[in-house]
Amino acid sequence: MPRKLFVTTALPYANAGFHIGHMMEYIQADTWVRAQRMRGAEVNFVCADDAHGAPIMIAAEKAGKTPQQFVADIAAGRPQYLNGFHIAFDNWHSTDGPENHELAREIYLALRKNELIDVRSIEQFFDPVKGMFLPDRYIKGECPKCGAKDQYGDSCENCGAVYAPTDLKNPYSALSGAAPVRKSSEHYFFRLSDPRCISFLEQWTQDGKLQPEVGNKIREWFTKSEDANGQLTGGLGDWDISRDAPYFGIEIPDAPGKYFYVWLDAPVGYLASLKNLFGKRGQDMDAYLADPDVQQVHFIGKDIVYFHTLFWPAMLHFSGRKVPNNVFVHGFITVGGDKMSKSRGTGISPLRYLEVGLNPEWLRYYIAAKLNARVEDIDFNPEDFIARINSDLVGKYINIASRAAGFLSKRFGGRLSSDPGVEGRLLLDTLRSHRSTVETLYEEREFGKAVREIMQLADRVNEYVDQHKPWELAKQAGQDDALHDVCSVCIEAFRVLTIYLKPILPALAAQVEAFLKVPAMDFADAARALGHHTIADYKHLMQRVDAKQVDALFEAPATPAMHPGGEAIADEISIDDFAKVDLRIAKIVQAEAVEGSDKLLKLTLDVGEGTDPQGRPITRQVFSGIKSAYQPQDLIGKLTVVVANLAPRKMKFGLSEGMVLAASHADGKTQPGLWVLEPHAGAVPGMRVR
Ligand code: MSP
Ligand code: ZN
Repeated sequence: MPRKLFVTTALPYANAGFHIGHMMEYIQADTWVRAQRMRGAEVNFVCADDAHGAPIMIAAEKAGKTPQQFVADIAAGRPQYLNGFHIAFDNWHSTDGPENHELAREIYLALRKNELIDVRSIEQFFDPVKGMFLPDRYIKGECPKCGAKDQYGDSCENCGAVYAPTDLKNPYSALSGAAPVRKSSEHYFFRLSDPRCISFLEQWTQDGKLQPEVGNKIREWFTKSEDANGQLTGGLGDWDISRDAPYFGIEIPDAPGKYFYVWLDAPVGYLASLKNLFGKRGQDMDAYLADPDVQQVHFIGKDIVYFHTLFWPAMLHFSGRKVPNNVFVHGFITVGGDKMSKSRGTGISPLRYLEVGLNPEWLRYYIAAKLNARVEDIDFNPEDFIARINSDLVGKYINIASRAAGFLSKRFGGRLSSDPGVEGRLLLDTLRSHRSTVETLYEEREFGKAVREIMQLADRVNEYVDQHKPWELAKQAGQDDALHDVCSVCIEAFRVLTIYLKPILPALAAQVEAFLKVPAMDFADAARALGHHTIADYKHLMQRVDAKQVDALFEAPATPAMHPGGEAIADEISIDDFAKVDLRIAKIVQAEAVEGSDKLLKLTLDVGEGTDPQGRPITRQVFSGIKSAYQPQDLIGKLTVVVANLAPRKMKFGLSEGMVLAASHADGKTQPGLWVLEPHAGAVPGMRVR
């Protein structure tokens, strides 16, 4: 009976392209899946975009798109990464698909029926301008401990303190800048603290299926301890699974205006993607998952263990479903020792990697060579990358074929000899005898060990070549048979090594299969010698890495040209971004100094907004920091350009209802001067500037 596997990787947030961390996870899982298939397993390997949540809703709004359009655009970019790095998911779906809406509701209703859902009123920060409750990461303020400004709602980057958003001093909304107000609303909770949940999870997490370090970490989460006040803290708390509208997500049944928190419906997306796949094939997912032989396996990173080993199995178990058989946790990949950070711009862009012509299978090989089954971080180091590809992969493995293939085609018409001789047979037996070790290392996700094992076998083959010196045999009379045998042994050895590397290097293996004129190879094919067989002409299979390509990968984006204005051009925006700024011609009706301010002038502007009931033109008051450059009387009656839809700002001296445009150098101290914009003659107040 073939092994049956349902395998997933974490569902990436649909708010950006992939970084190398995503690719590492996909490479790990894809390699494992390919190895399983080569052992005869039937695998369904799926993923999806994690579409919901406040950050995506907000990003979509900023981009001027509906959230649906926003995530669809992100999804359209996925294939170039996945195809580019030979990641062979059977399906890619979205957590906003109909299957997920239906499954998430079904699971929730089953939990409710099981009396595991509570409703409680909680108090949270609410943005009165945006009209929405603020997720923690959109609340900023001063750290309650050290007073550092502009800290996030959960922890301080300056002193490391961890606190609740309501502890912040002078909090403000990162969305609108407004001071948030406390407001209460009803939230839905999954009662994870229920004794049934605790005892199920204590069992499920500690029965040996998880990596030991993961199991230990979870045990800490279970443990209650006394805090400084003698209060018991820790242990499993109930989980808040609802968010109030506006929210991009799945509506909770019988709870108008309430949505599932994104992390409730995200893992359900695993099932939704499988269901979508089975739908396309006309197969029944429920029947498949009811089969006790089907093993459900999730690959995830170390940052999302809590969700996958507590919430997710409990959701599944208490809604009467199959629970995961394994959750395989990996560490993070760093680049040159640096944690990836988009803002600091480190890391490797996977698309840039492909663009500069680096071979995707080099990255697969390099990552595999560094991975093990533990939750350890790995580092992408450029010199190490070049060394491993050039000296190991090309120098040891590819070289075997290139050393032997030429003689076979030139001298023997590509025909293989079936007599390896005593030493040749010994060598091939050794190679074949390592098959179960190699398979086991793949099974255990010890890819680094597998690669080392395979490279040691390649070393043996190269020793054999060095001993038998085909290039000398080729020059000696009467040594044709010996040359034929030695080269044939090399090709057979190369074939076995290719099988062993195939889960990591699928495209290269396909090229080798074409060169050897054999059908797609599985592990079992390592045992069967080719015998009488003719191979194709050898074409070079893989280049060495050119250090210049790697340099290009890391090259900083071109240094911005120095502008006379002292400032580089800002990041590109779309025409839609620009259209949001409503610029109008304004007439300066009045201008006066502001008492107590040496920077500001108070301007009264006619922006063409009509007249009031008394027939006087409606005007706006704008405070402008141009006093150093203008006498008020010189401005009266002049036309200028104003940002007319800027949120009004309360200043010390009164409300400012717009902004007048003026030019200045970035460094106003060393290069002072201010020039207010003025349109050519003919423009009238109220005209839009575009
Ligand atoms: N959307 C959630 C997962 C929901 S699963 C039901 C999420 N998305 S993510 O895009 O932030 O991360 C996706 C996966 O990439 C996670 O497994 C995460 O651990 C992994 N990685 C993110 N950065 C990584 C590295 N630097 N290195 C390796 N994996 C990393 O979390
Ligand atoms: Zn602090």
